[in-house]
Order: sequence, then structure tokens, then C-alpha cells
Amino acid sequence: RGEKGPKHHINFHFLSGSLAQEALQSQSGWVPLLLALLHEYTASDSPWQPYFSLWKDFRSETCPVLRGVKLACLHVSCLSFQEPLEEKDEDEKGPNPPMMVPVADILNHVANHNANLEYSPQCLRMVTTQPVGKGQEIFNTYGQMANWQLLHMYGFAEPYPGNTNDTADIQMVTVRRAALQPGAGGEAQRRLVSEQWDFLCQLEMVGEEGAFVLGWHEVLTEEELSVTLKVLCMSEEEFKEYKEQDGWEDDSEEEENSTLSNEALSRLQAPCKKLLYDSVLLTLESYGSDLKAEQDLLNNKEAYEKLSRREQQALHVRYGQKRILHQLLELVH
Ligand SMILES: *[C@@H]1O[C@H](CO)[C@@H](O)[C@H](O)[C@H]1NC(C)=O
Ligand SMILES: *[C@@H]1O[C@H](CO)[C@@H](O)[C@H](O)[C@H]1NC(C)=O
Repeated sequence: RGEKGPKHHINFHFLSGSLAQEALQSQSGWVPLLLALLHEYTASDSPWQPYFSLWKDFRSETCPVLRGVKLACLHVSCLSFQEPLEEKDEDEKGPNPPMMVPVADILNHVANHNANLEYSPQCLRMVTTQPVGKGQEIFNTYGQMANWQLLHMYGFAEPYPGNTNDTADIQMVTVRRAALQPGAGGEAQRRLVSEQWDFLCQLEMVGEEGAFVLGWHEVLTEEELSVTLKVLCMSEEEFKEYKEQDGWEDDSEEEENSTLSNEALSRLQAPCKKLLYDSVLLTLESYGSDLKAEQDLLNNKEAYEKLSRREQQALHVRYGQKRILHQLLELVH
């Protein structure tokens, strides 16, 4: 998770010689799983045939990356499970290898799920986590995923307000643009902002490609955003002093609690709030339509149904993001 781009673009052409050796031994564990499945899928006497026969139902709607791909094996990336690791293990050993879990992979995902997979040395168990009424659908969780991630990986998004794990991005460079906006000060101020930005780059708090990630209840990139706002709002003297300490500060002055919850956002100092507010406005301007237009489309059943399925999913993604951005506008106004 978190890394951009699907992991499933495995190119079978290069599976020869030393590259093949490398691929087989790669930490991800995808290649051995895919090869084993290719073998079983093409073997007529495979005990897994009843399982594979279910895959015919998983067409491109379930898994968009598969469009045009004949190898049913590549469904794997949408259907596989990966046992989560403790964070410290992840650094040392890399992720656990992916695996197929027949039957468990039938269940759909919602954020407010009522079942999940439990991993134990003896077995895997799909267990309910909430009381499930008669006739009620049982939903698994594929992880805490924003709508854009769900769309990217699985081809669907949860309509608002279902996805409590939805997020919206503010591009890091947008915050710089907001700080450099005309009216934000004269030439000296612009030079200061440029220096501050370079310093933030050195601290690896920001980068040209990065984004600040906002959830419904808190900022998920809290350290990056809080340091960025703080530095960009410093006066020349404050910045000079901060630089001399190389980004370190007196602990006594630093708040112990760096969680940028909504409540903490509303307590930011006025210049930080203004910068964040301007950044959100610039972000909202980068969409082709405003929140109201999306709202109208969602409320207009006839117009909504005229959209293709893909357009509908994209609408849910955009609408959720704009709702989060508007909530932030309110908080820092
Ligand atoms: C994700 O959603 C679940 C279910 O609503 C919730 O319990 C959890 O706190 C959410 N996580 C985040 C990071 O928002
Ligand atoms: C830290 O932040 C949380 C969420 O805003 C708050 O409930 C808690 O009281 C804070 N703790 C301290 C020590 O400030």
C-alpha cells in the first residue's frame, strides 16, 4: 500500500536466465505465486479447477487492470491476501508473500465492514466483527483505503459518506504556490519563501512530487504538513534561528502532541490557517467542476444513470475528495 502503481505489471518476457532467478527470489513473493497459478490454471487435472472456474465471473469491472489480459492468473493481484506485518518486521524482512484464500476472496469491501480475515499459525479464519442480521451482506475489508485507491486497485469507489477512510490530497507544490501568491508580500518575502522551501526539501519534509494527505478526522501526513506550515510562516529571524538549529527545537517549546487532528487544525495560528486555506482553495480550483456541480449530478438520478459506470465511480472519488477539502476550509477559516 502507499506505493504508487500496481504491483501486478509483471512482465513474463523477461523471465529467463539471471533475471528469472532474481524475480523468483524477489522479496515480494509475487512471481512464485503467479507461476504456481499459471501452472495449476493450465493443468486440466488441477485440484484447483473448481476455484478457477469462479474466476470467470471476475471480469474487468472487478479489476480494471485486467482489461484485455487473457491470463486469468493476473486476477491474483485483486484477489490475493497478504498477512500484515508488525511495522518493525516490515523494515527488516519486507512484506509477507501474497497468497490466495479461496472463498474468503468472494466477499466485497466496505470501510464499515462486518468481517475480516484472522491469521494464525494453524489456519486462516474469516470472522465477523459486528452482529450480522439475517439477509445482511457480509463485507470484508481490503484495508483502510481511500476511494482513489479502491478505484485504482479494484475498480470501484464507495459512495459518500460510506468510505470513512477516504482521503484528499494537497500537492506539496500547491502550498508553495499559495505562499508565493501575489499579495503574499514583496520580493524579500518571496525570496524567504524560496529559501524556506529549499530547507524543507533538505529536511525531506517536502518534494516536488509529494502530496499532503488529509483524512476525514486528521491529517495523515501530519509531521510533513505541520513542519511545512510552521517553516513557511516564520519571519526571517525565526527562520534563521531555526536553520541554525538544523530543524531541531527546544523540546520545552514543542508541543508534545503532534497529531494534526481536526481539532488541532482549528487551533493553528492565523498565518498557518491562512496558508492552508489558500492551498485548499488552489487545490479545489484544479478540479474541472465545483462541489455543487457534483452534488447536483449525484442528486439527479436521471443524469447520474446516463453516466457510464466508470464516470460514476470517478464522480464518487471526486466528490469525496471535495467534501474533505471543504471540511478543511471550514476548519481553518
Ligand atoms: C477507517 O474506517 C474504520 C471504519 O469506519 C474506522 O474504524 C477507522 O478508524 C478508519 N481509519 C482511519 C484512518 O480513518
Ligand atoms: C493529543 O491530541 C488528541 C486529539 O486531538 C487529544 O485528545 C489529546 O488530549 C492530546 N494530548 C495532549 C497531551 O495534548
